Amino acid sequence: MVMDLSNLTVLITGGGGIGVGKGVCQVLDDYGAKLWINELSKIKAEEAAHQYKNAQPVQADVSKGQEIKNMFRLIQESGDKLNGLVNNAGVGLNKAIHKIDESEFDRVFNVNIRGMWMVTKAFAGQLLAQMTTGNIVNVSSVHAHSSQPNYSTYASTKAAVEGFTRATAYELGQYNIRCNAIAPGMVHAEQNLDLIKTWAPDPQKWVDDHIRNQQVLHHFIQPEDCGNAVAFLLSDLSKSITGQTIYVDAGKTIMLFNKDYIDQQ
Ligand SMILES: NC(=O)c1ccc[n+]([C@@H]2O[C@H](COP(=O)([O-])OP(=O)(O)OC[C@H]3O[C@@H](n4cnc5c(N)ncnc54)[C@H](O)[C@@H]3O)[C@@H](O)[C@H]2O)c1
Repeated sequence: MVMDLSNLTVLITGGGGIGVGKGVCQVLDDYGAKLWINELSKIKAEEAAHQYKNAQPVQADVSKGQEIKNMFRLIQESGDKLNGLVNNAGVGLNKAIHKIDESEFDRVFNVNIRGMWMVTKAFAGQLLAQMTTGNIVNVSSVHAHSSQPNYSTYASTKAAVEGFTRATAYELGQYNIRCNAIAPGMVHAEQNLDLIKTWAPDPQKWVDDHIRNQQVLHHFIQPEDCGNAVAFLLSDLSKSITGQTIYVDAGKTIMLFNKDYIDQQ
């Protein structure tokens, strides 16, 4: 299916990453949207923007209010009017609950949920001032639904993302501004192997076992699978959908029992 998103100008936070954000930028670019790619560092934003047909870089740390204000001012001064926002920037934490420092807890919340609120605040404020409509897609995670040891902080931020998505959708619906979320499962990217090494000695085997045993569909979830769900939620094809979270997880969260357990019966 080919979608035409050439009417969209979309800000993607953390869009220079190699996982979900990359898939989102790739698909939106393929469908003709104009992109504003936000990153923590100017260089990373510029490197990412170079990869697409119609993309501009913009630096800001989404956990810092003043940097967000500067980012929206810069985009506005360019003459562009944003009508799409993908709150993708996120950080993880894999640590036992009794060992987490306050600063680590604060960092994860400041980026994953406080930053999401501050960027949404600036975006919604701009739309209301211009009396235009727009669309928001937040990036949650399967950890909003079910989790694993050492993920208490990350999982709480993602549960908060889904509450924020529902309440924002209700509040902004009167202005015809929609707000939805996607919740990816384990998205295929090389960087995941480094992370998985922190709990599994053979990360590739862990990934293969996971796909076979912990997903209903036995394939890697690609970053573009997340991008396609975001494109749908930003498009008019989803014009009657708001406040929802689409799980892009190859069926992981619908499983009551994993496959090995079922096969043994
Ligand atoms: N990769 C997965 O398997 C997976 C699964 C579920 C959810 N997610 C979510 O997808 C989103 C993207 O993560 P990813 O896995 O693609 O990782 P990633 O590290 O490739 O991308 C995240 C990007 O966000 C940027 N970033 C971090 N803090 C920022 C800040 N304060 N301001 C601006 N940019 C910042 C990073 O520089 C990075 O480029 C996150 O919200 C993550 O929680 C990822």
